[in-house]
Amino acid sequence: MQIVIQTLSRWYNLESRDLPWRRTRDPYRIWISEIILQQTRVAQGLAYYERFVGQLPDIQSLALANEGEVLKLWQGLGYYSRARNLHKAARMVMNELGGVFPSTFQDIQQLPGVGLYTAGAIASFAFGEKVPAIDGNVKRVGARFFGLFEDIQSQAFQKKLFSLLQDAMVFADANEFNQAMIEVGATVCSPTQPQCDICPLADACVARLQQLQKQLPVTRKKQKPLDKYFYYVDIRCGNHHVVVRRSDVGIWSHLHEFPLIEGDTPEWDLDVVLERWGIVEKIIVEGEKTIKHQLTHQTIHAKCWYLCLPSDKFVKKDGWQWLEKDEILSLPLHRLMEKMIRFT
Ligand code: ADE
Repeated sequence: MQIVIQTLSRWYNLESRDLPWRRTRDPYRIWISEIILQQTRVAQGLAYYERFVGQLPDIQSLALANEGEVLKLWQGLGYYSRARNLHKAARMVMNELGGVFPSTFQDIQQLPGVGLYTAGAIASFAFGEKVPAIDGNVKRVGARFFGLFEDIQSQAFQKKLFSLLQDAMVFADANEFNQAMIEVGATVCSPTQPQCDICPLADACVARLQQLQKQLPVTRKKQKPLDKYFYYVDIRCGNHHVVVRRSDVGIWSHLHEFPLIEGDTPEWDLDVVLERWGIVEKIIVEGEKTIKHQLTHQTIHAKCWYLCLPSDKFVKKDGWQWLEKDEILSLPLHRLMEKMIRFT
């Protein structure tokens, strides 16, 4: 094992990508980068990371920011509970931990939104603790390297890999070892075309030695996403449009969007939607757009009607705000809302 680790270390120092979060030991920056990278690839994550730590450079500034600002920095990444948890965790560190970022694998896990992977990443990258950081890439590398046939989503797999990696790390620098495993997964050991000929782990890799690259890792079948039907109205009066802020619950909580009615079938028409809203005013239909929006567990079939109220009398309903387009664009919006706005 020691020889493989030396080869891995040499390879990492020669071949790895130069990424800003690898040039710091600041747990705050490492934490922000890891949460962003759970949502997106490195290429897109870089700009989000630079913007986030540029605007909120330390845990105190994040704790003092308002939630809207944090959601705006997150806009486009999706899964907004991650951003809300960052904010919550920063406030927890400031209010309950005297502003000092927790420094051990166990303590880091107490922060909202931080699981085993993120805690392992921060503990090893920032503090050098010898704990594995097992993300999706490392699961694939580990399953192949050790020849593990358990389902990679299972607890049994997680426990086994965690223990094997922790034993291997005894001989390694924790930061370098975990970064190198992530790097192998991201750049060499790809899901369908692993480049075993250039892999630093090849000499001791069970999958390569036994030609099991295609069989490993083992994954259970994915469930089909649920179909949802969303009916939106963009009501314009002069330069103003109606927007609503979503409530506390659900993945899009506190984000803004046009008035929405969720239907249970694909066949709803505008009359039904207007009736549900109790809109009796004369309106002009300026257009409509159908958008399919894919989330991890849901396929949203959205339809948006672009309506115009000819009079200057704004319709008032609970929670409706009449705002100009620029004002709407400055609010935290989900991706589907952005797609709808483009067509107004
Ligand atoms: N993906 C997740 N964590 C990463 C890291 N530290 N470097 C590159 N890609 C990553």
